[in-house]
Amino acid sequence: MELGLKGKVALVTGGSRGIGFAIARGLAMEGACLSICARTESVLEEAAGRIRAESGVEVLAVASDLAQAEAIRAVVAKTVAAFGRVDILVNNAGSTERGDFLTLPDDQYWADWNGKLFATIRLSREVFPHMRQQRWGRIINIVGLAARNPQPSFMTGGTGNAALLNFTKALADLGAPHNILVTAVSPSTTRTPRWERRVAARAAAERKSLEEAMREEHARMPLGRIAEPEEVAAMVTFLASERASYVTGATVAVDGGATRGVY
Ligand SMILES: NC(=O)c1ccc[n+]([C@@H]2O[C@H](COP(=O)([O-])OP(=O)(O)OC[C@H]3O[C@@H](n4cnc5c(N)ncnc54)[C@H](OP(=O)(O)O)[C@@H]3O)[C@@H](O)[C@H]2O)c1
Repeated sequence: MELGLKGKVALVTGGSRGIGFAIARGLAMEGACLSICARTESVLEEAAGRIRAESGVEVLAVASDLAQAEAIRAVVAKTVAAFGRVDILVNNAGSTERGDFLTLPDDQYWADWNGKLFATIRLSREVFPHMRQQRWGRIINIVGLAARNPQPSFMTGGTGNAALLNFTKALADLGAPHNILVTAVSPSTTRTPRWERRVAARAAAERKSLEEAMREEHARMPLGRIAEPEEVAAMVTFLASERASYVTGATVAVDGGATRGVY
């Protein structure tokens, strides 16, 4: 299938590793020029180099902390300065913490919402005028199953993700008259460095081997395994493409059938 992504300009946040890296690589392999950002410059530059070498597309790496409003303005400005436009925004960066409701401090809620929910809102607001002028845009928000499947130990992430679904739908209404399509992709547990760290911590706390803790994670899923980042990236690449020209306001679960209920 020809996706029509050649020459499009995509900004992928958190493109240095995990799901964001797989998305950035997926878009680049379809011929999109890339701007990727994350805080750790060395890891970001290495990711940009790998993608450039594999795909041959231009990759701009902008080291920045998206928890800062000023950094967000700079990321979009540098992307537009380098490529002259921004066609696709993938709001992927974020790192929300698990914790006990009664002891989790307010600061953790603010930090987690700021790094993901507010970063998504601010970045979308920043790219929207460019997309409106072009009369073409795609904004794809990476959410998470906890948005619709609340978990008591993951309230900062779950509440932030639920708000992101609401935001996605409202922004889709605003974007529709200008051919700016806004969607959300909700992965279930996906094999990324963050997941590996979390399982290692759980294994240590429960005095299990890492292999046993990982086996349990896979066994919980209907397909008998967790997702690979490339499986999430494939859906994002499709939604970013010309072939998804009548999909907006929708949330697509890439969850191996894990979500209960119907939507
Ligand atoms: N993995 C899962 O099981 C899973 C499931 C559902 C949803 N998700 C969602 O998918 C997204 C990616 O998750 P992941 O597992 O791939 O995470 P990850 O492996 O921890 O990667 C996160 C990426 O975001 C960057 N990042 C984090 N905070 C940032 C900030 N303040 N400013 C700029 N960049 C920042 C990180 O780089 P630096 O640390 O260098 O900044 C990294 O590139 C997240 O939004 C997560 O909530 C993940």
